Amino acid sequence: MSVKSQPPAVQQVREKISVSGVTHDFAGRSRMVRALEDVSFSVDKGQFVSILGPSGCGKSTLLSLVSGLVEATRGEVRVDGAPIRSTGHDMGMVFQSDLLLDWRNAIDNILIQVEFRGLKRSDYADAARDLLAKTGIEQFAEAMPKQLSGGMRQRVGICRALIHDPSLLLMDEPFGALDAITREKINVDLLNIVGASGKTVLFVTHSIEEAVFLADRVLVMSGRPGRLVADIEVPVPRPRLEWPHGESVFSPYVKEAREALTRGGSFS
Ligand SMILES: Nc1ncnc2c1ncn2[C@@H]1O[C@H](COP(=O)(O)OP(=O)(O)OP(=O)(O)O)[C@@H](O)[C@H]1O
Ligand SMILES: [Mg+2]
Repeated sequence: MSVKSQPPAVQQVREKISVSGVTHDFAGRSRMVRALEDVSFSVDKGQFVSILGPSGCGKSTLLSLVSGLVEATRGEVRVDGAPIRSTGHDMGMVFQSDLLLDWRNAIDNILIQVEFRGLKRSDYADAARDLLAKTGIEQFAEAMPKQLSGGMRQRVGICRALIHDPSLLLMDEPFGALDAITREKINVDLLNIVGASGKTVLFVTHSIEEAVFLADRVLVMSGRPGRLVADIEVPVPRPRLEWPHGESVFSPYVKEAREALTRGGSFS
C-alpha cells in the first residue's frame, strides 16, 4: 500500500465531530417536516462550540444526531472519525429539564449514570463528591432534589453528565429556566469545570451573551429548516473568570451573532 493513500494523521487526531451535508426530515401527521437542511461543520477536540438559532430550527435535532439517538435522513455525522451508529459511551448529556429522580439524593442521582453503564458504584463515589465540590454544592451531597434550588439541580445534572469522564459533552439549553444571576454564576462555574479538561462541548442556547461568553466558536442557524448562517470565532483568551456586564471584549461577537440571527430569520 502506498503511503499516499493514508488519511492525514493530524486531521484525524484534531477533529472530534464532523457533520457533512446533513439534512433531516421528520414524518409529521400529515406532512413531512424538514428540521435541518444541508448542515456541515466540524469541531476540533477540546473546542467549546455554542449553537444559536430561533425556536424550532433544529438545534435539539442536531444534538440528537451527534449523540446517535437519531439517524440523519441525508449526510453523515462522524464522532472521533467514525460514523455514529448508536449512542456513544464516551458522551455526557445535559438538558433544560434536569431529569433528576425525586427519590434519590444528589449523589445517588449522579451515580445513576454509573449504574446505567454497568460500572461499579464504589469506584465512582469519590469522583461524584469531587464533582459536587467543583460545582460548589458538596454540602448538598445527601440532599433530595426537592431540597435543591433550580441552579443546584442543574449542577447535579452536570455532575451526572461528567461522572464517567466523557470526552464529549452535549448540552441542550441547560440554563434556560434559571434566573439571570444564577445563570451568570453557573456559566462561570461550567467554564471552571470543563475549561481545562480538554473536553469537547456542544452547547445549545437561546441567549446570545451566554453563547459568546462560553464558546470558542458560535454557530448560528437560520429559521426552519435550520441551515448554518454563521460560524463566529470568539478569540477571547481563557480563563474567562467573570461574566461580562456592559460593554466588554465579548461585545463585538455578541453584535455579530445578533446580526447573523436577524439575517437568518426570526428569533423567538
Ligand atoms: N420527533 C419529532 N417528530 C416530528 N417532528 C419533530 C420531532 N422532533 C422535532 N420535530 C420538529 O423538527 C423541528 C426542529 O425541532 P427541534 O426540537 O430540533 O428545534 P429546536 O431548535 O431545538 O427548538 P427549541 O429552540 O424550541 O428547542 C420542529 O419543527 C419540530 O416540530
Ligand atoms: Mg430544542
